Amino acid sequence: MPKVALNFEDGVTRFIECGPNELLVDAAYRARLNIPMDCRDGVCGTCKCYCESGLYSMDSYIDDALTEDEALQGYVLTCQMRPESDCVVSVPATSTLCKSGPSSFGACLSEVRHLSDTTIGFTLELDDPDSLTFLPGQYMQVSVPDTACSRAYSFSSRVNGGRIDFLVRNIPGGLMSTYLSHRASPGDRLSMQGPSGAFYLRELQRPALFLAGGTGLAPFLAMLDHLKEWGGSSHPIHLLYGVTRDEDLVEVVKLQEFAEVIPEFSFDVCVADAASNASRKGFVTDHFGPEDLHDGDSDVYLCGPPPMVEAVRRHFETIGVKPASFHYEKFNASEAVQ
Ligand SMILES: Cc1cc2nc3c(=O)[nH]c(=O)nc-3n(C[C@H](O)[C@H](O)[C@H](O)COP(=O)(O)OP(=O)(O)OC[C@H]3O[C@@H](n4cnc5c(N)ncnc54)[C@H](O)[C@@H]3O)c2cc1C
Ligand code: FES
Repeated sequence: MPKVALNFEDGVTRFIECGPNELLVDAAYRARLNIPMDCRDGVCGTCKCYCESGLYSMDSYIDDALTEDEALQGYVLTCQMRPESDCVVSVPATSTLCKSGPSSFGACLSEVRHLSDTTIGFTLELDDPDSLTFLPGQYMQVSVPDTACSRAYSFSSRVNGGRIDFLVRNIPGGLMSTYLSHRASPGDRLSMQGPSGAFYLRELQRPALFLAGGTGLAPFLAMLDHLKEWGGSSHPIHLLYGVTRDEDLVEVVKLQEFAEVIPEFSFDVCVADAASNASRKGFVTDHFGPEDLHDGDSDVYLCGPPPMVEAVRRHFETIGVKPASFHYEKFNASEAVQ
């Protein structure tokens, strides 16, 4: 039976045995290891790891979850990977995170904020606030009341007085969007499963560039809320927040407040719409160059719609500078996550 060494980010290695033709995530679960995972369908990319050595086959997946280039470099989706020989796999998460199984949390809806025509903020009051810990940038599966469905949402704050915030794009006709726009009322019961995701703020060892697209701002708000609590950073952090139209621009006052209290933090906004009043027009890629990447000595974090990730990758190639690390979360649609 193939043996797989799982190397976690904190330096811990665990060995697990895979049955013949067994998926790596299933073998990991038998060993009580919770590798970051969401759809199990090769759609979301959450379970992406790097296979340093060994032979394996992959079932099916979509390009948004794992590009052809990534697959050629050795990246794998562990929900689709069947080890065929001993393998070494790097997991982009700490061992502590992977040992704890996904937990369920009960909560009451405490507030819904219609921040603009396109964006809704909501706050949950947790039944047991002390039991919820997460890494800033991670997300939860949040149930849609009166349905059997859930949707993935990044936390947009830390737990504060037993409450936690989320920031959601209002998609006309969308299941959660319709609930939040038309039916939600304070006191509604919701449940959450998680936390999940490998998109979280690592210890800052060099300047960081945060790139947010639309409600992809959410995990950065949580990171900034934590940085505020931790007393900031000794390295510069710059956020570029890009949206399509002026009405998509939300929480700018909150960003200004963060900029006032978090040492080394600054931000700019840009709007793609040519008719916008914003001083910076265009996409985030129109507004950063080699100097903003400190000629490669920087960490880049990106969260937004899937095409933004590829646009930023191409931009790195165009300007000829690759950051020291590139972490990203794609807000994929939830067809596969009923
Ligand atoms: C890891 C992760 C974290 C996420 N975090 C957030 C977050 O913090 N905030 C947030 O707003 N969203 C986030 N999303 C997206 C979110 O999970 C839902 O997909 C989204 O809110 C739509 O849900 P809905 O129920 O309103 O619409 P649905 O009922 O799921 O969809 C209705 C229709 O809209 C389409 N659609 C769904 N999403 C999009 C989209 N983004 N762009 C264009 N069309 C779409 C669907 O294909 C469908 O046709 C995240 C997704 C992932 C995978
Ligand atoms: S969990 Fe593997 S691609 Fe979604």
